Amino acid sequence: MVASEAAPYAKSGGLADVLGALPTALAERGAKVAVLLPRYQSIPRAQLRRVYDDFPVVLGQDVYRGEIYLHEHRGVRFYFLDIPAFYNRRGLYFEDGKDYPDNFLRFAALNVAGCEAIRRLFRADILHCHDWQAGLIPYYLSKRYGVDPTFASVKTVFTIHNLAYQGIFGRDVLPRIGFGESAFTSGDLEFYGNVSYLKAGIAFADVITTVSPTYAREIQTPDAGWGVDGLLRSRAQDLHGILNGADYTIWDPATDPHIAAPYDARKLDGKAACREDLLRTVGLDPEALKTAAVAGIVARLSSQKGFDLVAEVAGELMNENLALVVLGAGEHRYEAVFHHLAERYPGRVAFRNGYDDALAHKIEAGADLFLMPSQYEPCGLNQIYSLRYGTVPVVRAVGGLEDTVTGETGFKFSGYSGQELLAAVREAVNAFENKKAWKKRMLAGMKQDFSWSASAEHMLALYQTLAS
Ligand code: ADP
Ligand code: GLC
Repeated sequence: MVASEAAPYAKSGGLADVLGALPTALAERGAKVAVLLPRYQSIPRAQLRRVYDDFPVVLGQDVYRGEIYLHEHRGVRFYFLDIPAFYNRRGLYFEDGKDYPDNFLRFAALNVAGCEAIRRLFRADILHCHDWQAGLIPYYLSKRYGVDPTFASVKTVFTIHNLAYQGIFGRDVLPRIGFGESAFTSGDLEFYGNVSYLKAGIAFADVITTVSPTYAREIQTPDAGWGVDGLLRSRAQDLHGILNGADYTIWDPATDPHIAAPYDARKLDGKAACREDLLRTVGLDPEALKTAAVAGIVARLSSQKGFDLVAEVAGELMNENLALVVLGAGEHRYEAVFHHLAERYPGRVAFRNGYDDALAHKIEAGADLFLMPSQYEPCGLNQIYSLRYGTVPVVRAVGGLEDTVTGETGFKFSGYSGQELLAAVREAVNAFENKKAWKKRMLAGMKQDFSWSASAEHMLALYQTLAS
């Protein structure tokens, strides 16, 4: 597999959770799996073993010489491509809100290295590429490596975790990533006058997957297709929606080291201690909020996540017996929304602006409700974690949210409107008052099984069909 993030090494969102768990689930079922990642600054070399010097990455006229490091983790080999000029930076993709201008080179290098890895590091039947950052691989295989017998039987899988991020660059990047003008046609890399790495993955991979069945349908429509729906429809036979799983070795209140007290469906007592601990941690008073429904939010603050709706009806939401604990970082306008709410409702709204893994776990455990009003959501993992933590999700019924939350385990609304969000939250807050029914709802969620086993079996079957 080739990707730009994987837990526990480098994470900005759910992609990392998937790359941290799916490979192990496959390995447990007999596959031999390796993952190639960039060696970012945040991954200290001291923890890794150097296994290859002078690893050549040829891009156009330039040869970048990297080193490869290795770390084995839960049955999987994680290889790290170390080219300090590309990856030894503070961010994964951007700094101070600005994308790195050489992202086209940084990820093209990762893709070439992914192909070279098959020659030099790890013989594979399948090259599984994740998101636009690995989208060029099927294209390199078809155009550059196709003649080499090493690659004759290598098949590619391209997984779309988020269609909105496409890796779009100007036509002038072509020579720098090793292609001539002939690559700039609609049957190749050209996409509305630019070059698209995402399109390369979709058009040239043997098989395409995405992370929930509903999202697989949605992205074939103009409304949610981000300009690629036509191409996706033309490949509908090769497009599979396979729901992500949750890694319950990391996200389970019975064993979670970050939370105040363990609990599970048989013994729920610990959750009250987690609630109290969460509220104290973020500076809210558990006594004052005894009867309030505490809603949690943990998210990248991007327009995808639907917080425009929260902003739209914030006043009415806060008329309810509700408290809000928010952890997130991203676009400044959403940070401003939550800063403002915390100022306006001190004692009832707490906002932590940043990335904090331990606090994310505390929110999953300590909140009563979990809010995900997403505009679109390819899969979404937090609502799946919330179910296991007995933290009832209130979600918009799109993508993976639709596929994982039911009327029995959570609250759903469908239109992208503040009023619909408000109605769903009101329903949840009212339901929270009936403790007996609430407990039943919590337990229904906690008993759901979204472990990786079903998805990993599905993926293996797909690999097997391809390899044969
Ligand atoms: P997405 O991949 O679109 O961000 P997911 O729900 O699939 O959404 O996954 C988000 C993952 O990132 C979860 O593991 C969540 O806990 C984590 N996460 C998001 N924002 C933060 C944050 N500010 N601090 C800690 N963890 C975060
Ligand atoms: C993306 C999506 C999210 C999904 C994650 C893992 O970041 O936004 O919905 O859960 O990838 O596939």
